[in-house]
Amino acid sequence: MTFSIIRRPSWSIAERDATPEELFLDRREALKGVAAFGAGLVLSGRAAFAAEEKDPSTHLYPAKRNEAYKLDRALTPEDLTSKYNNFYEFGQSKNIYRAAQALKTRPWQIKIDGMVEKPFEIGIDYLLKKVQLEERLYRLRCVEGWSMTIPWTGFPMKALLDIAMPQSGAKYVRMETFKDPEVAPGQRQVWYPWPYVEGCSMEEAANELAFMVTGAYGKPLAKQYGAPIRLHMPWKYGFKAVKSIKRITFTDKRPKSFWQGLQGAEYGFWGNVNPEVSHPRWSQATEAVLGQNKRVPTLIWNGYGEQVASLYTELQKKEKIFF
Ligand code: MTE
Repeated sequence: MTFSIIRRPSWSIAERDATPEELFLDRREALKGVAAFGAGLVLSGRAAFAAEEKDPSTHLYPAKRNEAYKLDRALTPEDLTSKYNNFYEFGQSKNIYRAAQALKTRPWQIKIDGMVEKPFEIGIDYLLKKVQLEERLYRLRCVEGWSMTIPWTGFPMKALLDIAMPQSGAKYVRMETFKDPEVAPGQRQVWYPWPYVEGCSMEEAANELAFMVTGAYGKPLAKQYGAPIRLHMPWKYGFKAVKSIKRITFTDKRPKSFWQGLQGAEYGFWGNVNPEVSHPRWSQATEAVLGQNKRVPTLIWNGYGEQVASLYTELQKKEKIFF
């Protein structure tokens, strides 16, 4: 079992030195929110809750669909995908959507650190102002053998790299979820290596398919999908799609993911979809399409080989890129 230890990073400097003035905007909004919440206390409890929960990004949705990303199958209805989730922080069943509503997604600061020109924190609503949102229809293939198709809204991960300004020596991106056992009962299970961590190479992050997701079905992301921001790399198994990202670290060391920490022999770093490479305990040849009473053949790279296979031409001579 592995436990992560939070250390103060060596680059740690006063926050105001590290963060451009405008990036504090969300914090000011947060302070206003605290004041409003105080006022809410004299209102009814229900009114105060509504004020706190209002999502300030609602007006950005729906975003224009990017027609370059087409599907070979029907979209999975929202009613199904929003009630069939993996979010271990809120429990191990698929039925966590009610429990996930406890997650507070505003204010939401994301720390960008490690091998970047200058570490900083950015609030989600300020980040949303800096990027162009678009909708993409993508498949999601879970390592457990089921799949769905979702209209995600978000922005290319490449845009995040442009904002973060990684140093030339950075080789990987490490992404980390929140840690708050008070709201996430799963995180009270100390045998898991919380917080959930995932990672990818810089080349993968810059690939056109790598998508930072902030919405689904034409609305801000519902909490069970990993609000307010998650990853989706559609050519990889869903476990790579880390939810509710709080920290993004650029590094020259390959990050150790949550699942590698738990069962390294079963979950490799790359996690690329391949029907011919079985999970040690089950075949990956087919997948159950959520909401349909059938299994269909799984495609290599989950059908996205044209965009991503060339990323791995050299790498696969040296190491296993499928499991
Ligand atoms: N991110 C966090 N923080 N915690 C999780 O348990 N589960 C992963 C991934 N991201 C997970 C996570 C797995 S195994 C899958 S299949 C997808 O989220 C599921 O995403 P969905 O619930 O939106 O379908």
